[in-house]
Amino acid sequence: MVKAVILGCTGYTGVELIRILATHPEMVVSGGASRQWAGRRASEAFPFFRGHCDFLISDMEDVLREPQADVAFLALPHGESASAIRPLLDAGVRVVDLSADCRLRDPDVYSEWYGPHKDPGIVDQAVYGLPEIHRDKIRDAQLVANPGCYPTSVILGLAPIMARQDLDTSNVIVDSKSGISGAGRAAKLITSFCESGESVKPYSVLRHRHIPEMEQELSGLTGRPVSVRFTPHLMPMSRGMVSTMYLRLKEDVTAESLREDYERRYGDEPFVAVLPDGHFPDTAHVRGSNMCQVAVTVDSRSGWAIVVSALDNLVKGASGLAVQNMNLMMGMPETAALDTLPVFP
Ligand SMILES: NC(=O)c1ccc[n+]([C@@H]2O[C@H](COP(=O)([O-])OP(=O)(O)OC[C@H]3O[C@@H](n4cnc5c(N)ncnc54)[C@H](OP(=O)(O)O)[C@@H]3O)[C@@H](O)[C@H]2O)c1
Repeated sequence: MVKAVILGCTGYTGVELIRILATHPEMVVSGGASRQWAGRRASEAFPFFRGHCDFLISDMEDVLREPQADVAFLALPHGESASAIRPLLDAGVRVVDLSADCRLRDPDVYSEWYGPHKDPGIVDQAVYGLPEIHRDKIRDAQLVANPGCYPTSVILGLAPIMARQDLDTSNVIVDSKSGISGAGRAAKLITSFCESGESVKPYSVLRHRHIPEMEQELSGLTGRPVSVRFTPHLMPMSRGMVSTMYLRLKEDVTAESLREDYERRYGDEPFVAVLPDGHFPDTAHVRGSNMCQVAVTVDSRSGWAIVVSALDNLVKGASGLAVQNMNLMMGMPETAALDTLPVFP
């Protein structure tokens, strides 16, 4: 069995990693790190792991000194990951980082949105971890930068049509909605029950940190700069994400011709489902699964193409995608531990 260690194992994405890896036929969680739970067992923090996975939680420093694992998942806040990556790579451990620390290739862009980088030298070694776009590079990577949840929903939503000349792909409007777990487990006023349980609200308008990541990857797909107008919203649900994307038509385009691009691109993809005409993605249809649903249509009256995608922010938007990446890195079946139906309703 391949031994995996999870740094940040008591946060939402860390727990989701443990849940998914508990069913993995070739990987086992051998350790984890957290500040608050160091010295105690996973089943003390989460009694539902008893009998499935009961490793001892350590201090991050102890894990980094002696990783005792083949692979590491970093489910840490940005900034914390940056200082953990080099010791792991030096110890020969392959790393999937769920934070933003290795996603942005330009260090100036990282500093502008996140502040100074703690180890900018590692960024060049990272492959952006979206298998549907970078599968071959991921297979050979020692370090994968797992994408953000909003960028995954947007890039998978737009990738099949970014090369088209009959759409204005240089300007993209994105309206997204996320469940509250997207903000992490630590207590914050905005995610408290009274302020999120019966409310829908935009947040980080004009300044959400996923904007440069979307622009970087979408520009890579078109070969020219892409500008994204992105407004995220918090929804009163624990998990799930929908992104609705708008692109202006330059010529007459039919929904059928766009849908053909999606079916061609994603026909063999295990974790992207292109919905038939008349159907649209629904967070309830992907909850707990690694699927991203995508649908495309054309508003010929106003001259816009509309794309909608839905995923579970903790699975295809984070931990499921991280396991998919690690499966590729380790030469295992890409779908191992991930081939599950959604929890419905
Ligand atoms: N939530 C999502 O939907 C989502 C989706 C995609 C990507 N991400 C990214 O994934 C990462 C984790 O997100 P999350 O939502 O799981 O966050 P979270 O719920 O806040 O969990 C963070 C984890 O990191 C640990 N931690 C924080 N500082 C630490 C330190 N200095 N040493 C050791 N452990 C430390 C926390 O435990 P202690 O407090 O006990 O130390 C906790 O286990 C973030 O970078 C986030 O942006 C999240």
